[in-house]
Amino acid sequence: MVIFKKIADIKNYIASLRRDGAAIGFVPTMGALHNGHLSLIARAKNEGAIVICSIFVNPAQFNDPSDFLKYPKTIAEDIAMLTEAKCDVLFLPEVAEIYPNGFDAAKQYHFGALEEILEGAHRPGHFRGVGMVVAILLQTVQPDALYLGQKDFQQCLIIGRLLELMHEDKSYCNSTGAPAPTQIVVCPTNREPDGLAMSSRNRRLTDPQRMAAAGIYRCLVAVQSKKNIEKFDIVRKECEDILLEKGIQPEYIALAARSDLRLLADYEENTEMVALIAAKVGEVRLIDNIFV
Ligand code: PAF
Repeated sequence: MVIFKKIADIKNYIASLRRDGAAIGFVPTMGALHNGHLSLIARAKNEGAIVICSIFVNPAQFNDPSDFLKYPKTIAEDIAMLTEAKCDVLFLPEVAEIYPNGFDAAKQYHFGALEEILEGAHRPGHFRGVGMVVAILLQTVQPDALYLGQKDFQQCLIIGRLLELMHEDKSYCNSTGAPAPTQIVVCPTNREPDGLAMSSRNRRLTDPQRMAAAGIYRCLVAVQSKKNIEKFDIVRKECEDILLEKGIQPEYIALAARSDLRLLADYEENTEMVALIAAKVGEVRLIDNIFV
């Protein structure tokens, strides 16, 4: 695996790969890698791409500074895992490389209602920060395919919209000036045997918290299975009670349209839906979702 820290260097390398006709698959991460990330790398490899992974803990997307400081940093282990997974290239920039003139100078994109609901409501500014860094990463790598995990479902929609906005303002073009074609591939959430969604944050849970945290997935399954049987309001209340009893503080238990995350008061017969939960297990904030 080749490691680059500078934008100019990785761009040169990617240009040479492209001259050789390679397709580029890109997996952006914040490190503290787990099997969920490795499944994205495996998917990209299976699809025949040269796989580029980035590790950058983006300060601009943490609304809570202590969350940023506590975010696990395990770079030696990450490099070993990526090497084992046969990742081809790792982009490992410093903050000054991504934001040479500070965060305020980086281009910000606006996502309307999508950045104000659910995660956006509970983590103000989070998606602005995600948009800022993903725009820079996309311009650097210009992948044919971008692999994202369904666990961060709202982020997947935000990044889809980001691509549209970057095409509209012509900040994401290939060498001929045409919109750079990047396909977003949303991959299923990887789960532990008890259903807990894999997340870098899980390693901050104590053993009892770790056991309790599986209740989040069980609640999502309950929301999914009670469609056509129960009103969503009632299911939500049952889930809230279950989580509280386990010592988990729910931030939201929501049902939304899958296409644009329009929040739904109840199940809708002809709408593709997604149920989403954010909850705090001790100090650790976890999110998860399931298609309904
Ligand atoms: O999901 C993540 O790990 C991050 O939000 C991302 C997409 C790498 C941007 O920092």
